[in-house]
Amino acid sequence: MSAKIVAVANQKGGVGKTTTSVNLAACLAEGGHDVLLIDLDPQANASSALGVEAVDGRSIYGALLDGAESDPLPALIQPTAYERLSIITAEQDLAGSEVELAPHDDKLHRLRRLLERHVGQQERQGYVLLDCPPSLGILMTNALAAADSILVPLQCEFLALDGLAKILKMIEKIKAATGHEQLALEGIVLTMYDSRTNLSQQVVNDVRQVLGSQVFQTIIPRTVRLGEAPSFGQPIIAYDPNGIGAQSYRELAKEFLGRQPGAR
Ligand SMILES: Nc1ncnc2c1ncn2[C@@H]1O[C@H](COP(=O)(O)OP(=O)(O)OP(=O)(O)O)[C@@H](O)[C@H]1O
Ligand SMILES: [Mg+2]
Repeated sequence: MSAKIVAVANQKGGVGKTTTSVNLAACLAEGGHDVLLIDLDPQANASSALGVEAVDGRSIYGALLDGAESDPLPALIQPTAYERLSIITAEQDLAGSEVELAPHDDKLHRLRRLLERHVGQQERQGYVLLDCPPSLGILMTNALAAADSILVPLQCEFLALDGLAKILKMIEKIKAATGHEQLALEGIVLTMYDSRTNLSQQVVNDVRQVLGSQVFQTIIPRTVRLGEAPSFGQPIIAYDPNGIGAQSYRELAKEFLGRQPGAR
């Protein structure tokens, strides 16, 4: 396969999955990499955060249900306003796939097969980012079954370590359920860091103590601009290109790339 598939996942809601998917994708594309972002959350937040309208019938939903042998992705992929960054948007119907896929024996591997067929045909090295919904359902399991690695945004908040333990357990469960033992932990990204509180610093220390180098050095601060950018349909590097939010996500992209095998 010529593209690396990274699931951005955490079963907890509101921890910065979509913000990280959208902004890491935009920064990787800015750095010269081809990136496809797949919005797997029926809320379609990643789609709107990139200013792409989530049109019915253009999400991955139909392709997941169809199970056909062809490669339906080219018809679903939409360009964004940003060079090298494309997207498959979400739609409300995606929520139905939890129930509709349930009777199928291969329900956990549908996305994997779609991506294998598609990515195998791409010539250029690139990245596919999967923005997962917060619930631990068939969509998220499909994402982890299809991914080479999982990147976990973790909010700097009270009980973050409890959340982390749950996530690590969840990853092991999904590996067992899908038989995908090679799923790697890309890393933990600490998000919404508030430098004014001791709690944030405490969370950083605790998480680093437990997971060491699996935690990205780059920490994403809580900033007003990062919270505002989605409502303008822009990634932070377009909305506030010189602010601390843009700086942090560029830094994260750099660190992410530096961790890839073969990186210099
Ligand atoms: N670093 C940040 N600074 C300020 N606001 C942020 C930051 N990261 C995320 N937010 C805001 O917090 C909210 C939750 O973030 P986001 O949507 O990225 O989380 P999520 O994990 O994708 O949520 P869900 O589980 O609902 O999909 C959003 O309103 C987002 O704009
Ligand atoms: Mg989200």
